Amino acid sequence: MKIALITDLHEYDPEYVLQVLAGEKPDMICAAGDILERHIRDGYEQQGEDPDEGDMSIFSRIFIRGLTRIKHAFYPDMEHPSEEFARYVNSENSYRFFREASKIAQVFYSPGNHERYYTDQDRQVIRETGTVFLDNSDAFWKGIRVGGLSSTPDLDWLREYMARPGYKLLLCHHPEFYDKYLKDTEIDLILSGHVHGGQIRILEQGIFSPGQGLFPKYSHGCHDNRLVVSAGTSNTVSLPRWGNPCEVVIIELTS
Ligand SMILES: [Fe+2]
Repeated sequence: MKIALITDLHEYDPEYVLQVLAGEKPDMICAAGDILERHIRDGYEQQGEDPDEGDMSIFSRIFIRGLTRIKHAFYPDMEHPSEEFARYVNSENSYRFFREASKIAQVFYSPGNHERYYTDQDRQVIRETGTVFLDNSDAFWKGIRVGGLSSTPDLDWLREYMARPGYKLLLCHHPEFYDKYLKDTEIDLILSGHVHGGQIRILEQGIFSPGQGLFPKYSHGCHDNRLVVSAGTSNTVSLPRWGNPCEVVIIELTS
C-alpha cells in the first residue's frame, strides 16, 4: 500500500503538491495537520495557548518569545494580511487541495495547531470532498484502523483507539507527542509534521521547532521505524528554508 503524507500546506497554492500526488498515484493520502490557517480567533493570533510551549526548556522559550517579538515589531499587521498576500494564500487553496486530492485517492485529515479554530463550514466543505475528518477519532478502512490525534489531545479516545484490534495508523500533527503519549504504545505507524524540518538543517539536524525548541529530537525523517516526520509543503516564515526542501512523503507498506 502506498501512502502519501502531506502536512503544513498553510493555505499556500497546492498545485505542485497535486502534481506530485497525480504522478505517484498513492492508495491513500494522509493530511496530518496545518493544511488550513485557523490559528486566529476574533481577528487576533492566540498567543500563549500552544499546548507544547510548556514542555520547552527555559532557553528555548526565551528564544521563541524573542523571535515572536521581533516578528511583531517588523510585521505589526501580520494578523491582518495584505490583500495581495491573501490573493495567493487563502482558504480556497486548502479546499482545492482536499477536492483535487480526493479525486486521486482516499484522503484522511487530522487538524493541527493552526486549525484549532476550524469552523463548521470548514468541516462541512472538507467532508463533502469525501475526506475522512479525524479529530480525536478513528475510522476503519481497508483493514487499517486510521486515527487522528489532534493538537488538543483526547487521551480517553487515545486509550480506546489503542485497545482496538488490527493495524493502527495514527495521524498526529505534533511529533513531540511521540515521547509524551505514544512511545510505549503498539501503534504501528505515526505520521506527523509541524516542525517544517527545523527550518534550517545542518548535518541532518534541524535548528528549531515550535514545541521542541532548539535542536529538536524529531524534526524530519523516520524514527524507531514507525514515526515519520514530514518537513511540510510550504514556507510560512520570512527566513529561508536551508538544506530543507518542502516535500511530499511517500511511504510504502509491505506485508
Ligand atoms: Fe503546526
